[in-house]
Amino acid sequence: MEYRIQDLIDIGLFQELLDRLNDAFCLTTAIVDNESNVITASGWQDVCMKFHRANKDSEFICKKSDRYITEHLQEADPFVIYKCLHGLVDAATPIIVEGKHLANFFIGQAFLEKPDIDFFKKQAEKYGYDEEKFLEAVSKVPVISEEELQNRLGFIRSMTEILAKMGHERLKQIELLNELQKKNRELSNSVEQSIYALSKASEIRDRYTAGHQKRVRQLACAIASDMGLAPETINNISLGALVHDIGKIYIPSDILNKPGQITDLEYELIKEHPKHGYDIVKDINLPWQIPVMIYQHHERLDGSGYPEGIKGDGIIIESRILSVAEVVEAMSSHRPYRPNLGIDAALNEIRAGRGTKFDSEVVDACVGLFTEKGFAFTE
Ligand SMILES: [Fe+2]
Repeated sequence: MEYRIQDLIDIGLFQELLDRLNDAFCLTTAIVDNESNVITASGWQDVCMKFHRANKDSEFICKKSDRYITEHLQEADPFVIYKCLHGLVDAATPIIVEGKHLANFFIGQAFLEKPDIDFFKKQAEKYGYDEEKFLEAVSKVPVISEEELQNRLGFIRSMTEILAKMGHERLKQIELLNELQKKNRELSNSVEQSIYALSKASEIRDRYTAGHQKRVRQLACAIASDMGLAPETINNISLGALVHDIGKIYIPSDILNKPGQITDLEYELIKEHPKHGYDIVKDINLPWQIPVMIYQHHERLDGSGYPEGIKGDGIIIESRILSVAEVVEAMSSHRPYRPNLGIDAALNEIRAGRGTKFDSEVVDACVGLFTEKGFAFTE
């Protein structure tokens, strides 16, 4: 896993924290990555920013000190303390997470003993600084002991590494989550592939059923989407609709394709197809709604449907949508045993059953699709 310090720590928040530390303890800090980019900077002294680094000649000396520290940080254990050629003390420690050296933490711009004012007067003269302002800036640099400097550095180092480790854990969790989502996508692809394979099987045997299932899927998904159902529900409806009549492979094809009236016995056989369909798909690793909607697609709200005569709330929304789409498609297309009855007859059929056999909201959405929204079968 490749990561930078910025990937582990929220730099904006960390900068805020370091600013607070500077307000409370006069702690000048900076994080510089391995490419010398300054990631955070807090409380840098005017003597450095407004004088030493603001003048080309004196800045050269600053950079020399920076290089010294960076070079010695490679083997620093646990830190480097260095008095720069301008007389200020800097200290730095590497930030190491899971054995990776990510950046360096600098603190400093302090004196370890009371500054020698003559030394700084000479500096002002050498680089042409305004002496009064320069000495005022020098007077603001804190004087701390070496032990204090080490303590501060140790504290900052621990805090940074703890935060970075927490960030690292979070990154690992995100990676795991991504992996899990990828596996889920693969699984749902294989679920869809099983459904397509089943639909292909029914297509080979019975082209009427195959075309019917595809058109029912188109209408059922349009109804579900018009009703504002969740994308997962629409996807389940799409898959379930595509194989809702798969149980018909148990019915002899001369009964299915018989022109004219079928006998009562033949009708009883046909009425078994939702059960057969359910049995075929129930052991596939599918969302539970898919086998249930296959089982229930001929059920009616008033209990007049088959195979169970389930009523009202026992019929899930996916099945309610599928049953309306099923009736409309079946009536409006050609069948071996009767001619096409037309879409108007189909819509009248579901209007007649609105609120009794069929769910009112589903009927309204379906009628609206045909009469107001220009829906047409394209399969
Ligand atoms: Fe059916």
